[in-house]
Amino acid sequence: MKAIRGATTVENDTEKEIDSAVKQLLYNIENVNKLNREDIICILFSNTTDLKSCYPAKAARKAGFISCALYSSAEPEISGALPKCIRVMVLADIKSAPRHVYLNEAANLRKDLTKKFNIAVDGPAGSGKSTISKIVSEKLNILYLDTGAMYRACALACLKKGIDCADGAAVKTALEKCKITVEYENGAQKTMVDGKDVSDEIRTPEVSMAASAVSSHEWVRKTMVELQRKIAAGRSCILDGRDVGTNVLPDAEYKFFLTASPEERSRRRLKENEAKGYAQTFEEVLAEITERDENDSNRKFAPLIKAADAVEVVTDGMTVEEVVNYIIDKLQGTI
Ligand code: DC
Repeated sequence: MKAIRGATTVENDTEKEIDSAVKQLLYNIENVNKLNREDIICILFSNTTDLKSCYPAKAARKAGFISCALYSSAEPEISGALPKCIRVMVLADIKSAPRHVYLNEAANLRKDLTKKFNIAVDGPAGSGKSTISKIVSEKLNILYLDTGAMYRACALACLKKGIDCADGAAVKTALEKCKITVEYENGAQKTMVDGKDVSDEIRTPEVSMAASAVSSHEWVRKTMVELQRKIAAGRSCILDGRDVGTNVLPDAEYKFFLTASPEERSRRRLKENEAKGYAQTFEEVLAEITERDENDSNRKFAPLIKAADAVEVVTDGMTVEEVVNYIIDKLQGTI
């Protein structure tokens, strides 16, 4: 049997926040320790006395931890202690070394255990980067940044102004007058142009092609990369794109390069586009993917290229779950 420690904090003493914080903490502990729920013998919580709206044990029960023994108690009031904090000890039947989890403000309690790390995921269009990176970010409770969405937002802004996306000078003039930003709502990225959420509007085939053109200009890349580094600074995160491992975060601790054959990528993109209601044939998608591969790989500034230290994952025939598990396995034991 092993004892796994963890802690988290909430901003407000509400049942909703405590439920969500406890769920996130326990799911993280399960994920990083590869626990089966039946292996958990008991879960012991303590919380600071400024949390009065519900017992963490009740929140754990609501989150589905129903077969193990649960216990909550209040801690003594210690001056200077981290406020609104929930601590946990999970006793589980596992053989491997326990991996402790400290989230939110509680991450500062154990800096030795909460080392900051970056994951770079690059690859061509349709290789599954965004889907995979998003799931990995949820499993590890780290920030996810889809850098392609930022180039898409630039492209949308230019298209709306009737700018030729191949004309670097015109693109620069147009983009200097607008504000591309990224916000997060419940962990989900919202990509904004001049304060308007364009997260859905940037997913059309027209914007895909325009993004490939817009992203080839040096000024656009410099501006977006600066913003991407700012968003990633000082926290653990996973970024996906074309040049994350080679240019945006060349010192990222973990780098992956996802690929698949153009046919496989086109099949995936066609399925996605059909679900969104865009009428395209397989041949059209394949032609679009081939043209984007060509643009993205042969442009002068930061082209799509596998970083020398990236792990290549050829995803033909692999399910999303298989790719996610492969990546998590590679990270396991080293994070
Ligand atoms: O990943 P995506 O399809 O959303 O990216 C849209 C375009 O943006 C893609 O054709 C190339 C470009 N891009 C880039 O140049 N660098 C990145 N880091 C991400 C995307």
